[in-house]
Amino acid sequence: MVFLMQKEYFGEGCIQNLDSIVSNESPNSIFLVTGGSAYESSGAKKCLDSVLKDYKVIHFSNYQVNPTIEDVKKGIKLFRANQCDLVIAIGGGSCIDIAKLINILSCHPEEPEKYVLKEKPLINTGKPLVAIPTTSGTGSESTHFAVCYIGKTKYSLAKDSILPNYAILDPQFTYNLPQYITASTTMDAFCQAVESFWSVNSTDESKEFSREAINLILKVTRLEQWGNQERAQIMRAANLAGKAINLAKTTACHAISYPITSYYKVSHGHAAALTLGQMFLFNSNVNLQDCSDYRGYGYVKQTMEKLMHILNVNTAEAANEKIQAILHGLQLETSLTKLGMGTKEDHDVIVSNGFNPDRVKNNPRRLSKEQLYEILEKLS
Ligand SMILES: [Fe+2]
Repeated sequence: MVFLMQKEYFGEGCIQNLDSIVSNESPNSIFLVTGGSAYESSGAKKCLDSVLKDYKVIHFSNYQVNPTIEDVKKGIKLFRANQCDLVIAIGGGSCIDIAKLINILSCHPEEPEKYVLKEKPLINTGKPLVAIPTTSGTGSESTHFAVCYIGKTKYSLAKDSILPNYAILDPQFTYNLPQYITASTTMDAFCQAVESFWSVNSTDESKEFSREAINLILKVTRLEQWGNQERAQIMRAANLAGKAINLAKTTACHAISYPITSYYKVSHGHAAALTLGQMFLFNSNVNLQDCSDYRGYGYVKQTMEKLMHILNVNTAEAANEKIQAILHGLQLETSLTKLGMGTKEDHDVIVSNGFNPDRVKNNPRRLSKEQLYEILEKLS
């Protein structure tokens, strides 16, 4: 697979590079995508106002927390009407994802659904895109895919040219993030790193990105100890985890998380983390019959042992306990009952919507519906 090259900047104050990026691109009309109130409270608005004051800027922030195809269409209309030729996305994962979607789909003539549902191939390349994350979780700035909802179902659009041309990773924008968002997005990065490590698509390169990300996150798992240095470390970890899923993709925990977010409004990273410990146990028990990795079940067992080594534990049970301890350290609820999804009916909703084939098929051990019911029962 060939990915387009991305220019990456990292470190406190590196937002100053935006000035030269914009002047080099010399756009006629900039499509600026931002989040809600965080755009101002993170200090991002102040930085961007001074850089963009002499340019025509079309500001788009009118979309839902988990963007829908209707949000994408609104953005496309605005993008086309103003003939935008540079995109700047500054915000969380949803902000960067919707900017990617609007950019690539604006240069495709058919209805956006057709591309998202893979009825039509993406053939054109969008305008240059600058991604500036203000949370540390999805690593969307370093991936070549973007997700959005059609109804309550989450779809992913993938294409090499979706990878942002520039990524500016300035941790100062994360210094004032609320505690829950920090915790949830950290767990998103952690799940992405662990899942991509055991994914059937993993490579030596993706595993190295995962390993580095996990090591960074393991150093800062007690929220009360966090200062600016720790937040910078997590921003780096999230970016590395993004690079890992860019190659290897996510697996069962992410697939199961989507109905938990859609139907029960649990934030994305928190939702993915709920099943991570149990999936660790499940994948460690892979056997000849249910292995879905072409490299064989011996390889998967070895991979799980390497993961235990990275987590500094000797058994899958200890890995599960460690993951639960990390969740507690980040003050995230782990009981499905306490999160309002402890009944059989709730589990029916999760099981009937939690098998997104794009992701479940990446899991190294085949997961049946009965096995998922058992896992949810244990977590309730
Ligand atoms: Fe994620």
